[in-house]
Amino acid sequence: MEPAEHINETETTVLEAILSRHSVSPKRVVSPGPTPAQIMQLMAAAAAAPDHGKLQPWRFIEFPETNRTALADVFAAALHERLPNADNEAVTRAREKASRAPVLLGLVLRLHRHVDVPHVDDQMVSGGAALQNVLLAVHAMGFGARALSGQAVRTQSFRAALKLADDEIFLCFIAIGTPTSAPKSRLRAKPETLLTRWDGTSG
Ligand SMILES: Cc1cc2nc3c(=O)[nH]c(=O)nc-3n(C[C@H](O)[C@H](O)[C@H](O)COP(=O)(O)O)c2cc1C
Repeated sequence: MEPAEHINETETTVLEAILSRHSVSPKRVVSPGPTPAQIMQLMAAAAAAPDHGKLQPWRFIEFPETNRTALADVFAAALHERLPNADNEAVTRAREKASRAPVLLGLVLRLHRHVDVPHVDDQMVSGGAALQNVLLAVHAMGFGARALSGQAVRTQSFRAALKLADDEIFLCFIAIGTPTSAPKSRLRAKPETLLTRWDGTSG
């Protein structure tokens, strides 16, 4: 590896991609989304995430556009489970979430809770790294994406509809498509506020 001052072209490109990535709301993306081949590249990007113990403690689900009405039914059922008195407007809003974005992926953590090493925290972080790799790869391909969880994903009806196992957590959807406008840039934390230096003393 070259020392930092000799940063090469690839590293510059990677850094630029990391620093320029911003989420794009699913309301601001349209077709086309990534092709099936590009979706496989996204999975390859996910597979490059750090994974302590090679447990692969996560997986992805694709929600094809042909199944979105069924997904809308799942969102409606999840809303009724949480809020039995939800009005029609709320149900419509819940259903609409299923139709946003031409490509919709789900990221599921499948935690090995009884494994001592690596700890379950490591496994969760691996899922986060897989998510970020996918978001960055999407950005590098020229698409826009946003990770979205929402309260529906923790309902029993949602978990049952997706046939999630007991040790699985639906972390988030990743809504991907072609941005209709430039993404809003978000103020980032000042780098120096993110770092402290240990003084070498204990206690
Ligand atoms: C696992 C996960 C779930 C998220 N769920 C939601 C969500 O349900 N609604 C939402 O508005 N933002 C959600 N976010 C945040 C957005 O995806 C996004 O990161 C945030 O708006 C900041 O934008 P940025 O990616 O441009 O920094 C979630 C982020 C993560 C990592």
